[in-house]
Amino acid sequence: MKRVLITGGNRGLGLALATQLLAEGQRVFVTCRATADQQALQALIGRYGAALSILPLDVQEAAGMAEVASAVRAHTNGLDWLINNAGVMSNDSLATVQEADLHQAFAINAIAPLLLTQALLPLLQEGTNPSSSTSAPPLVRLGASKQECRSAIVTP
Ligand SMILES: NC(=O)c1ccc[n+]([C@@H]2O[C@H](COP(=O)([O-])OP(=O)(O)OC[C@H]3O[C@@H](n4cnc5c(N)ncnc54)[C@H](OP(=O)(O)O)[C@@H]3O)[C@@H](O)[C@H]2O)c1
Repeated sequence: MKRVLITGGNRGLGLALATQLLAEGQRVFVTCRATADQQALQALIGRYGAALSILPLDVQEAAGMAEVASAVRAHTNGLDWLINNAGVMSNDSLATVQEADLHQAFAINAIAPLLLTQALLPLLQEGTNPSSSTSAPPLVRLGASKQECRSAIVTP
C-alpha cells in the first residue's frame, strides 16, 4: 500500500487520480481549498472510509502547508508519493495576458509545489521511495542538472 498526497483533488485530474488510487487500495490524502466543492470527495469517503483524508489547503498560502504536514503525521509516519497536481492554466493569449495573472500562475504552478515538497520532506524521506533501490538519489537537489533529474525519474 502506498501513502499518497494529491493537491487539488476535488475535481479534474486530481479527483480522477484519487479515485483510481483508492480503487487500487492505496492510502490517499487529498488537499483542496476550504471553499471548494467537496461533494465528489465526500462520496469517496462514503465508499472508501478511512483510506481517504481531506485536508484544507490553498497552495498559495504557505502557512497552511505545515498544518497539512502535521495532519498527515497524525495518521502516518511517512508519505510514499506526492502528486503536486493543483494548478491553473490561463486561456489568455500572449497579446492579452495580464502581469498579475502571470505572477499568480507562477506562484501556484512553480513555487507552491516546491514549498509543499519542502514542508513534506521529513514525511517523504520516511516513505518508500522507489528510486532508493537504484543508484539514483532518492530526492533531486534544487538546481540539479537535467541528467540528475533524468536519473531520478522512476518508471513503474
Ligand atoms: N487537463 C489538461 O489537459 C492539462 C494539461 C497540462 C497541465 N495540466 C495541469 O494538470 C493539473 C490538473 O489539471 P486539471 O485539468 O485537472 O485542472 P482543473 O480541472 O482546472 O483543476 C485544477 C485543480 O487545482 C486546484 N487549484 C487551483 N488553484 C489552487 C490553489 N491556489 N490552491 C489549491 N488548489 C488549487 C483547483 O481547485 P479549485 O476547485 O478550488 O479551483 C482544482 O482542484 C493542473 O495543474 C493543470 O494545470 C492539465
